[in-house]
Amino acid sequence: MIIAPSVLSLDYSKFSEQLSTLNENCEWLHFDVMDGHFVPNLSFGPKLFKDFRKCTSLFLDVHIMVSDPFYYTDVFADAGADGITFHYEALNGDLDKCNVLITYIKSKYLKAGISINPGTPVELIEPLLKEVDLVLIMSVEPGYGGQEFMHNSLNKVEYLKNYKLNNNLNYLIEVDGGVNDKNAHDLNAKGADVLVAGSFVFNGDIESNIEKLRNSTN
Ligand code: DX5
Ligand code: ZN
Repeated sequence: MIIAPSVLSLDYSKFSEQLSTLNENCEWLHFDVMDGHFVPNLSFGPKLFKDFRKCTSLFLDVHIMVSDPFYYTDVFADAGADGITFHYEALNGDLDKCNVLITYIKSKYLKAGISINPGTPVELIEPLLKEVDLVLIMSVEPGYGGQEFMHNSLNKVEYLKNYKLNNNLNYLIEVDGGVNDKNAHDLNAKGADVLVAGSFVFNGDIESNIEKLRNSTN
């Protein structure tokens, strides 16, 4: 299981201390980019992201919750992202545009991911599954950390796992929102490969929280 702490919840008054703990205890870092338009909240720009890039060799997983994913793909590719995941809803479900963006992200030698909101049926992205490196299932409404996990996401994870097996594909299944030591076991059992966790990891001792999350996937 890949654990991807969401640095939306990092305590920036303790940046270097918390980042060195993350460097030693997890595989990926998850960055929520919010434009105040696709979602009401605003988060990181490229300057802060580049500062992270200077201090870590972890895989930097950039989740762009923005209305113009083409523009922000350029911004965060230039800033040093390893993978970029955009929202199907941001392109109004236009499969051709989604395919163009997936190809564009890959042309920058980055992992290409697609994300769907809790209300979007997973079957709608089926035509894209052979193209993507990663599928991100939102288990809360995008925009804020600290919300409660929505259990319907488990069915989507299971669907994606079965589709992957039946079609011999190898995309990663990532889950984002309300992930904790109570639901990690089920998420693992249904087929999740990457768990994003913000509040759970940063509320208290980071190292032991990551350990707890990892242990509960067993
Ligand atoms: C929500 C973000 C999440 C968020 C998760 O829009 O995409 O990555 O940081 O935070 P928690 O784990 O607190 O739900
Ligand atoms: Zn996210």
